[in-house]
Amino acid sequence: MTASPLAPEWLRHPDDANALAPAVWPASATRSVDGALAVAGVSAPALAAEFGTPLYVVDELDVRARARRVRDAFARAFASVGSSVHVYYAGKAFLCTTVARWVVEEGLRIDVASGGELAVALAAGVDPALLGFHGNNKSRAEIDRGVELGVGAIVLDSVVEVDRVADAAARAGRVQAVRLRINSGVHASTHEYLATAREDQKFGIPLADAADAVAAIRARDSLRFLGLHSHIGSQIFESAGFAEAARRLLEVHADLLRGGEVPELNLGGGFGIAYTSADEVTPIEAIADDFARVVSTECARLGIPVPVVAIEPGRLVVGPSTVTLYEVGTIKDVLVDGQHVRRYVSVDGGMSDNVRPALYGADYTVRLANRVSDAEPALVRVAGKHCESGDIVVHADYLPGDVTPGDLVAVPATGAYCWSLASNYNYLGRPAVVAVRDGEARVIVRRETEDDLLRRDAGVTA
Ligand SMILES: Cc1ncc(COP(=O)(O)O)c(C=O)c1O
Repeated sequence: MTASPLAPEWLRHPDDANALAPAVWPASATRSVDGALAVAGVSAPALAAEFGTPLYVVDELDVRARARRVRDAFARAFASVGSSVHVYYAGKAFLCTTVARWVVEEGLRIDVASGGELAVALAAGVDPALLGFHGNNKSRAEIDRGVELGVGAIVLDSVVEVDRVADAAARAGRVQAVRLRINSGVHASTHEYLATAREDQKFGIPLADAADAVAAIRARDSLRFLGLHSHIGSQIFESAGFAEAARRLLEVHADLLRGGEVPELNLGGGFGIAYTSADEVTPIEAIADDFARVVSTECARLGIPVPVVAIEPGRLVVGPSTVTLYEVGTIKDVLVDGQHVRRYVSVDGGMSDNVRPALYGADYTVRLANRVSDAEPALVRVAGKHCESGDIVVHADYLPGDVTPGDLVAVPATGAYCWSLASNYNYLGRPAVVAVRDGEARVIVRRETEDDLLRRDAGVTA
C-alpha cells in the first residue's frame, strides 16, 4: 500500500500497524498472547478496567534504568578526564513524590523551578542539599524558604536576585551556594542550533555581564559562587550546541578563576528522545563522551582544571517510560481539500492531558492497545474531546482501518511535560498516574474527581 497523500513526509506507511517501535515505547512494552498491549507485565485492558481512562502508565524500572544510564554515562565520561558530574533530574518534566524518590534512589539530584515543586521534593523526603532551585522570577517567599531549608544550590537568573538571595541567606545566618544562569546566545532544538551574539529570551544574563554579576556575588559573605549555568533548549539530538555553549562559558569561567574559586559548570538539560520512529536519537553515552571531550579540550587550551560538571535532564529520564491509554469514542472520516479523507479518531482526553501537540506542534504515535488487527492501515488523526479544533493528540499515524469506538489506544513517550502541563480545560479531571512493575500496578497520583474540581469554587452551596 502507498502512503496517504495527507501523511507528513516523515511518516512511512507501516508494514505492521500493530508493531511497537522499541525506541518509542517503554522497555517492557510488549504484545500479550491475546494481542493486547502490556507494560511491565500488566495488560492495557486490565489497567483501563481498574483505573479508567485516560490513564498515564509509568514503567517504574524503565525510569530507574534511564536515570542510572544517564548518571553512569556522564560519570564514566568525566572520570576519564579527571572530573566528576552531578546529575539533576529536572522535576518540571514530571514530579510527584514517588518519582522524586525513584530518581534520588538511583543517585540523581533534583532541580525544582517553583515553591510547589520544592514542596513535592520535600514531601518525598528528599534531602534539601540535593536540590537545585531554578526560576527567572522566584518570589521572595520562595527564596526565603529555599535558603532556610538549605537547598544545595540556587540558580540566580538575574542581577536583582544577587541581593535578594544574599539578604535571605544573611537573615537565615547561612551561606547559600549559587550558580549564575547565562544566556549564552546558543539555542538548540532537535538537529539544529543557532549561535548568535544574544538570544532573545527571558532566561539568564548575557555573558558580557557575568564578570560584574560574579563580583557582586563574591562581595556578599552570605553567598558562595559555584559556577556558571546554561540551558540551551530542548529535544536536542546532537552535542554541537552544547559544545558551543560550553566553549563560550568556559572562556568566562577561566577569567572568573582569576578572582576566586569556580568549582562547577552546569550545562543544563534538553537531551532528546524519540517520539516517533522518525526520530533518531544519539545514545547518551556518545553525548556524554562529546561533553567530556569538549570540556577537557577547552580547559586544556585555557590552562584551567576541568570543573565538576552538572547536567539537568528531565525528558530523557521520564519521557519514554510512560504511555497514555485512551478509549476511542467517535470516529469521523473528513473530506480534506475535496479529495482525500482524514479519519478523526476522538478519544476521552486530549489537550488537557497532553498539550504539547497544540502548544508546539509536537508529534506522537498511536497504537491499538486492546487488540491487534490485520486490517489495512488507515491514516488517522487522534483528536481529544475538548472545545478547540487544535485539540490534537496525534497529528498523523496509521492505525488498523477497523479501529472502532470502544477500542483502547495507547500513545507512547508521554512521560515528560504531559502530566506536568496538564489542565482542567472543560472541567476534565486530570488523569491518574499508575506505576507498573513486575506485573503489578499501583496508583502514584490519583485521578481528579468532580469534587476536586468544585472544591475551590466559592459559589458552591450544596
Ligand atoms: C533550566 C532547565 N534545565 C533543565 C531542563 C530540562 O529539559 P529537558 O527535560 O528537555 O531535559 C529545562 C527545561 O525546560 C530547563 O529549563
